[in-house]
Amino acid sequence: MSSSKPQIFKGLEGVYVSETRLSYIDGLNSRLYYVGYRIEDLVAFSNYEEVAFLLYFYRLPKKEEFELFRALMREAREVPPDVADIVKRMALRNAHPMDILRTCVSYISMYDPELYVGTREANIRKAVRLVSKMPTLVALIYRVSRGLEPIEPRKDLGHAENFLYMLHGKVPSEFEAKVMDTIFILHAEHGMNASSFASLVTASTLADIYSAVVSGISTLKGPLHGGAAEAAYYQFKEIGEPERVEAWVQEALKARRRIMGMGHRVYKSYDPRAKIMKELDGEIASKYGGEPEKLYKIAIKLEEVALKEFEARGRTDIQPNIDYYTPIAYTALKIPPELFTLTFAASRTVGWTAKVIEYVQDNRLIRPLDYYIGELDKKYIPITER
Ligand code: CMC
Repeated sequence: MSSSKPQIFKGLEGVYVSETRLSYIDGLNSRLYYVGYRIEDLVAFSNYEEVAFLLYFYRLPKKEEFELFRALMREAREVPPDVADIVKRMALRNAHPMDILRTCVSYISMYDPELYVGTREANIRKAVRLVSKMPTLVALIYRVSRGLEPIEPRKDLGHAENFLYMLHGKVPSEFEAKVMDTIFILHAEHGMNASSFASLVTASTLADIYSAVVSGISTLKGPLHGGAAEAAYYQFKEIGEPERVEAWVQEALKARRRIMGMGHRVYKSYDPRAKIMKELDGEIASKYGGEPEKLYKIAIKLEEVALKEFEARGRTDIQPNIDYYTPIAYTALKIPPELFTLTFAASRTVGWTAKVIEYVQDNRLIRPLDYYIGELDKKYIPITER
């Protein structure tokens, strides 16, 4: 054993593990780019299907290419009919919908005729099929868990629009579809985050792309990652009223609780996705009133108070991330908190798969080291003598 201790990068902070052309986060200047395009421009001018094309092919599609790609996605929306039985059985055991989704993705992999074909082309085809089915799975899980009849996808609706239709059985308004599409675009890809890394670790062993996505889903679930939006929602509910924010923050920080939806490993300035959602939430609050407006008022007050407290502790870098402001929009879209992380997963499936496809082109098994600090050459004592 070497006597000099190597430097250990806890949480792999500051470690680069690959090169990418997919996304770039400028964490000091509140910037996020997909394939060089600013996230603000993609939200304003593009849509989720086009963003998916961009992330698989590193360029925006021409009109005919887009129409073909969108048609392929619409054709692939249906899921095998027996998935509903699995969902029903898991729902009876009160499984969290995120656990049901993880199992469903694993299950439907067996229906993919190209499951074990690992070429770039086959991986893109599988990825597109899976991305197209994710909203169907989420809506199915939602409806079956509540004892409601599942709603078949419609081919004449956009990706986000069809998702809301399958959830609620009603074609959403243009505004609602745009809000949903914005949330899908904002979650599509985000550098070497924990769930994308987990997907890459799995894919680097040359396991199939569905297994990589299952790893991604499992990793996204935690409250330090994608699970933060659900936790932020319950945090706002726990606070209850904007007037209670001051006292709540004092108590929370005294108890060393984390403010959910704030802070980030890479952003040391305002998360640009949170900025977009915050603006949209303002519009939603005045349009919808009711619970979205109340949550918005609590969130705004909590941001003001918490940032002041963090600043007083010398931490101007802890600011809202995307998961802080999505719960308000989700509430307006009647998406319940237990579905927040699933919606994130449905969108991020593009990022996970695009990253896997990019990485395995020049694959190297991901196999870091851990530094052993235990004893060596211990004497084995038989069980009767211990
Ligand atoms: N509330 C209170 N204190 C905080 C927070 C927070 N949200 N974030 C960081 N800190 C403090 C805290 O004192 C912590 O020290 P300790 O470990 O002793 O409790 C210290 O800052 C660590 O700061 P850091 O090195 O900047 O944070 P990190 O890189 O270790 O963690 C984080 C980043 C996102 C896990 C953390 O900020 C956090 O737990 N935030 C709340 C959960 C959350 O919103 N997660 C969503 C992340 S963005 C969406 C996504 O990618 O899924």
